[in-house]
Amino acid sequence: MTVNAPLLEASSLSVAYGKVQALRNVDIHVDSGEIVSIIGPNGAGKTTFADTISGFLPYEGTVMYRGEEVETVEQSSLVENGMIYCTEKRDLFPFMTVAENLELGAFHNRDALEGSREFVYDLFPRLEERADQEARTMSGGEQQMLAIGRSLMGDPTLLVLDEPTIGLAPVIVEDISDALNAIVDQGVTVLLAEQNVSFALDHADRIYLLENGTVNKTGVAAEMKGDDYIRETYVGT
Ligand SMILES: Nc1ncnc2c1ncn2[C@@H]1O[C@H](COP(=O)(O)OP(=O)(O)OP(=O)(O)O)[C@@H](O)[C@H]1O
Ligand SMILES: [Mg+2]
Repeated sequence: MTVNAPLLEASSLSVAYGKVQALRNVDIHVDSGEIVSIIGPNGAGKTTFADTISGFLPYEGTVMYRGEEVETVEQSSLVENGMIYCTEKRDLFPFMTVAENLELGAFHNRDALEGSREFVYDLFPRLEERADQEARTMSGGEQQMLAIGRSLMGDPTLLVLDEPTIGLAPVIVEDISDALNAIVDQGVTVLLAEQNVSFALDHADRIYLLENGTVNKTGVAAEMKGDDYIRETYVGT
């Protein structure tokens, strides 16, 4: 890997589900230490992008993670190389406890388990209070905290977060927001797929606007905040 290569780089990326073309010639990259957000409406292709870079979908074009073509490596090696994906479905084990769900997140990272757990419990004290409770009994917001917490247990280099704020009350969004700041302070690189454009603009260094499977705008967050089309269409001011 060349020293200045992006941590993640998708070039001319196209993905289809049968006849449905979900991504078309997409160029998106994430440098180490950045927080990059993909924004866009329902069906834009945000989850498809996250699924593809995580090795779940076949594609045309290239997707390089740490200098390796994603399609050519085992999914487990992506995880071992620090790409941790927190999906929009959260994928918790409902009948296992909070503590057990967290421990599973560290399956390839046993040596760091204690330290990671301490970080997660500091970040989300509610998870520590409810450590022995089954995941299915947690509220929606608590389940989102648990899903993020479990991802952190894997010691991510690149944390892929798909819609972490969806369906959550504003106070919980605040908690997620604080946590995200702390995660970034730890040096974790983040790719954030978000329909909540205000949240994305507040957290990201750079933004890609995905519409109908195509990147229609990209730029630094400050620039995108001032963009009339984005303001009128997605922020509502
Ligand atoms: N398994 C699938 N089979 C067929 N089409 C799919 C499948 N998954 C997604 N699609 C289609 O691909 C397109 C992109 O979907 P995707 O889930 O990536 O969008 P999204 O931006 O994540 O939307 P949302 O904000 O609603 O989560 C949509 O038109 C969707 O209907
Ligand atoms: Mg989605």
